Amino acid sequence: MTEKKLLGDDGKRLSGRSDVDLRPLSMSVGILKQANGSAMVEWGKNKVIAAVYGPREVFPKHQTNPHKARISFRYVMAPFCSMEEHGRAGPNRRSIEISKVLKHVFENLVLVNQFPKTSVDISTEVIQSDGGTRVAALTAASLALVDAGIPMRDLVSPVSVGKIEGRIVVDLDKDEDNFGSSDMPVGFSHRTGEIVLWQMDGMLTRDELAKGLDMAFEASKKVRELQLEALKAKYGTAEQAETG
Ligand code: CDP
Repeated sequence: MTEKKLLGDDGKRLSGRSDVDLRPLSMSVGILKQANGSAMVEWGKNKVIAAVYGPREVFPKHQTNPHKARISFRYVMAPFCSMEEHGRAGPNRRSIEISKVLKHVFENLVLVNQFPKTSVDISTEVIQSDGGTRVAALTAASLALVDAGIPMRDLVSPVSVGKIEGRIVVDLDKDEDNFGSSDMPVGFSHRTGEIVLWQMDGMLTRDELAKGLDMAFEASKKVRELQLEALKAKYGTAEQAETG
């Protein structure tokens, strides 16, 4: 990966953030009328919409599981979401991989045994992108699932960490992601203490990895706080919302 200057002369990141600062993050729940649940997350320059339909009949029917609900997850970038050339709109190799990884996160969190023979369909659209879209999509999808009343063990509160010019920093933007030397998106369930997503691009030493994980855990607490606030804004108390 090519390195580009990502730290200013004052030692700060080009955005003026410290190593542990998140970009501005805002969330709203229930933004679509038709979906059973929906949410929008604006995270730095990322803008992601999530919609949830279900539990509903499984299509195609042969994918029906008599013991548990099927989770489907679609992550896709709008063709106009960045300055980069995306080619044709719709799914591509990258978005299919991200969809698969994010689906597994919710297969572990949704109480799928409670509604067998049904499907819970989660769809996320990246309207504008600037690095960290998969964590923004996960954040929005969590809120949309709660909004749809789908029972879950917990929300997922994700954030990415990475390495730029030899420093471990939180919440990489696109230049930091593309020109830094490593990027590690991590998702936590704070209620259970589990890591429910963990990917990594590039190389980190064992110490850097441990430090990055600690920094991601701390930063994800802020993400969770904002998720609960967004749910409270619609439902009164987050506990009421989380239990449907
Ligand atoms: O978005 P995320 O960091 O989860 O995924 P990535 O594959 O590491 O991509 C980093 C960033 O590159 C994205 O957020 C986009 O801003 C940009 N990108 C793009 O514009 N077009 C693509 N086809 C892939 C990435």
